[in-house]
Amino acid sequence: MYRIRPLKKIRREIAIPSDKSISHRVLLIAALAKGTTLVRNFLHSNDTLATLACIKKLHIDAAYKRENREVNIVAGGPFFEVAKKVNLAAGESGTTMRLLSGILVGQKFSSVLHASKTLIRRPMKRITSPLRLMNADIRARKYKGEEYPPLSIHPVDTLQGITYSLPQASAQVKSAILFASLFSGGVTKIKEPYPCRDHTEKMLQFFGAPVKRQAGYILSEKALLKGGKEIFVPGDFSSASFFLALGVLLRDSELILKDVGLNPTRTGFLKMLKAMGANIRIIHRKHYFEPYADICVRSSNLKGIKVGEKEIPMMIDEIPILMVCASFARGTTEIYGLRELRVKETDRIQSMLWNLKRAGVDIQTKSYDKKKNWMVKIKGARKLKPASFKSFSDHRTAMSLIIFGLVSENICSLDEIRSIRKSFPDFITRVESLYG
Ligand code: S3P
Repeated sequence: MYRIRPLKKIRREIAIPSDKSISHRVLLIAALAKGTTLVRNFLHSNDTLATLACIKKLHIDAAYKRENREVNIVAGGPFFEVAKKVNLAAGESGTTMRLLSGILVGQKFSSVLHASKTLIRRPMKRITSPLRLMNADIRARKYKGEEYPPLSIHPVDTLQGITYSLPQASAQVKSAILFASLFSGGVTKIKEPYPCRDHTEKMLQFFGAPVKRQAGYILSEKALLKGGKEIFVPGDFSSASFFLALGVLLRDSELILKDVGLNPTRTGFLKMLKAMGANIRIIHRKHYFEPYADICVRSSNLKGIKVGEKEIPMMIDEIPILMVCASFARGTTEIYGLRELRVKETDRIQSMLWNLKRAGVDIQTKSYDKKKNWMVKIKGARKLKPASFKSFSDHRTAMSLIIFGLVSENICSLDEIRSIRKSFPDFITRVESLYG
């Protein structure tokens, strides 16, 4: 149980932990490349450590120095030197399981990818279907028309390129297909319903793969990746979003968030906060493989807005914290296109509805079209009730509710904080340092 005490005004610089998506990708891509890759500012979190453990089990030489957050990876090319069937643990990391599957289908050995707790309930048909179209031999646990972990993968003689329209704008699915395309004959063409995070495309290009965008498709084909690179991982915009919200919602406050990744496919929440009237400035812009900068955020009076479906993929992990901002805004906020939130670590529509209702927020949710999409409507208010929150074992629900408690005028509580280790192990330490 964590007691959330309201905060008074703060003026501070805050260091943001490294990007989770980029940390996963650099390990996997460096493992496929020939040569040595030095990763600086690697994210130390449960999810990224799961990927690190997997590549080590696949006989990749990956030396991690925790004190300076560096990983030195020495690899020999696309095929791993594994002689017999290997069991791998993705833990609770959906990114590890879905991205690594795209690599394992091209290998010459059998493998099983296991999941624990929240991941065992997450859908996998979204990757098994396109990978099978590429001729992969990938099997999953079947239940009521869906497929779930564990995944077992067996070698095939050849994989083939496909033309595929993603049913949902998912960067994990897109990445799994892109990885498999590196082992496939012909060209793979992927169409996204709306643009979603493009770290895989960017990093594959950086390692020499001929991935490109053409006529609305992402094109990729067999390629040998070249190592010999040094990668600096910038701060995670999704982790920064909690402190962006804090800076905006606390009165008389100013926060400067250091070295935050600003890849445009990730910063939808920034755009929405600005549309709500937030006082945010980007300072000290830098570019090192991906753009990043410091963000200065000041207390602001927010107003409600309408958020359309196409905005969601570029802020998919920030919807819970957007709901918190909407709870304190003047007027009504409507957010459409939330179906994918139902299949995250928990159903984030339900987890936020349950919690925000307890704090007296006027919130409604409904399913609204033939495709059973979901929307949320929140009428903001400044005075809310003290509440005992539940994270439903979801890190982003947990951190969003802690921010809610910090800016409300009441003492609130949260049932657990362990889940936060998934992406932001220092979150509580950072919050505690803001008192006094
Ligand atoms: C991620 C993609 C998103 C996101 C997840 C990380 C990635 O998932 O929610 O936290 O690193 O590719 P989906 O691909 O399911 O949208």
